[in-house]
Amino acid sequence: MLEKERKLALVDIIVSQSDLKGFIIYANPIFYKIAGYTYGKLIGENHNIIRHPEMPKAVFKLLWEQLENKQEVYCFIKNRAKNNRYYWVFAYIRPSLNKDGTIRNYISTRRAISNKAKAIIEPLYQNLLEVEKSNGVKASEEIFKKFMRQNRYQNQSDNEIIHNIQY
Ligand SMILES: Cc1cc2nc3c(=O)[nH]c(=O)nc-3n(C[C@H](O)[C@H](O)[C@H](O)COP(=O)(O)O)c2cc1C
Repeated sequence: MLEKERKLALVDIIVSQSDLKGFIIYANPIFYKIAGYTYGKLIGENHNIIRHPEMPKAVFKLLWEQLENKQEVYCFIKNRAKNNRYYWVFAYIRPSLNKDGTIRNYISTRRAISNKAKAIIEPLYQNLLEVEKSNGVKASEEIFKKFMRQNRYQNQSDNEIIHNIQY
């Protein structure tokens, strides 16, 4: 069956907070609405409950490496709602720190991916997924890093590159 896309409206801002392993502590009403869960049902679930099988593993590997390094991250994610619809987001995830500098939790805010970004990211992720199936995650990670290098202007950070792709 062909999956249907759910496009986020500009006003849809999906917010959640998680523990150090990605388990959901808080989700805003828009998160429940878009992901299709009854209010309260996402608490205690891992964020991978909305993971779409077509998301390349390399993207999450790099995401966690940056988060555990206490860096904030911008990334594009294809998610799956309970009713099997998929929805693309432009996500921002930020670690919040305790006074002693250790990570307390993570906060994510997501909005609609732009058409411009989707046209670039969808084929890139499809390629990464195929490479992962044939040559493994390491090979797909290399392709992703090469993509970032090719899109880097002067000393831009990875987050600036992702931001530029969205806008
Ligand atoms: C704050 C936060 C938000 C996250 N949001 C998503 C998300 O929207 N979609 C998603 O698939 N994974 C998200 N993740 C990553 C998941 O926890 C998980 O690593 C990912 O879905 C891959 O799952 P898997 O390793 O079980 O395949 C988020 C993690 C954190 C810390």
